[in-house]
Amino acid sequence: MSRLQDKVAIITGGANGIGLQAARTFAKEGAHVVIADFDAETGAARERELAGEGLSCRFIQVDVADKDSVQAMAEKVVEAFGKIDILINNAGITRDAMLAKMTTEQFQQVIDVNLTGVFHCTQGVLPSMLEAGSGKIVSTSSVTGIYGNIGQTNYAAAKAGIIGMTKTWAKELASKGINVNAVVPGFTETQMVENVPDKVIERMKAQVPMRRLGKPEDIANAYLFLASDEAAYVNGHVLHVDGGIMM
Ligand code: CAA
Ligand code: NAI
Repeated sequence: MSRLQDKVAIITGGANGIGLQAARTFAKEGAHVVIADFDAETGAARERELAGEGLSCRFIQVDVADKDSVQAMAEKVVEAFGKIDILINNAGITRDAMLAKMTTEQFQQVIDVNLTGVFHCTQGVLPSMLEAGSGKIVSTSSVTGIYGNIGQTNYAAAKAGIIGMTKTWAKELASKGINVNAVVPGFTETQMVENVPDKVIERMKAQVPMRRLGKPEDIANAYLFLASDEAAYVNGHVLHVDGGIMM
């Protein structure tokens, strides 16, 4: 029996990187996956790609920072599938700069997508999950939201905020049959780290006991566990997937 048979799973930021790997992993486990991403061209190409592999995948364009856009996306999912079982709040951006140079616009953009976006999406799926009396919500934080990182005032604030929201929602929604958890990835091999200077990457690797960055599948497998029925009694948990950089 597949671990997500016939579950309807929205994966925000599913067109690339960790989210794309999660889309593939979830669909292989029997889920109907909705890639909800800002990038329309790549998103549509991913839908075709996964469908070509015989997987159930639909792309819906969304800007998680925009409440109306999120609302419309959630309505389309319910229209198409009749329910939403799983939300993976994975979409995220960086606008790195040292504190002295960071503009208010850079600060706000990251808060809007990485923090307010998680609020919008979770609110957007809530009516459907409340009606069903069940649901799984997983949000993506980051090690830098826990221990800080040079150049990431905005990003660290958003990623730390996700943990506070996760614990709050885990308390609010547990009695409604909804589990809410967070995943904390370490530095992971995707386009997001491509612009990080080599010497910073080397320093990060040296700090990881496993001496390597994460791979998208390392994180996607954690999403899978938390989204599955195997995690029925896991709630308000912050799961580190970081090769042991934080203990
Ligand atoms: N850790 C340790 N040292 C860092 C660092 C980091 N993350 N980022 C910068 N530094 C150091 C630089 O090596 C440099 O040191 P030296 O003066 O000894 O050479 C010093 O800080 C100043 O850096 P720059 O000269 O590069 O300053 P800048 O103003 O030109 O650029 C910056 C600043 C945009 C923040 C740039 O340094 C940078 O991109 N740093 C990397 C930031 C980073 O780690 N981002 C993570 C992106 S991936 C992600 O966010 C996913 C996740 O969840 C982990
Ligand atoms: P990525 O850049 O490969 O993918 C992010 C996806 O989010 C892209 O497809 C992008 O189009 C989408 N997106 C951006 N803004 C959006 C918006 N407003 N609305 C909808 N979609 C939007 O990034 P990656 O690495 O796969 O990151 C996934 C998540 O993991 C992010 O939340 C990121 O912060 C987090 N993370 C990543 C780490 C890394 O080292 N790569 C480490 C820790 C956390």
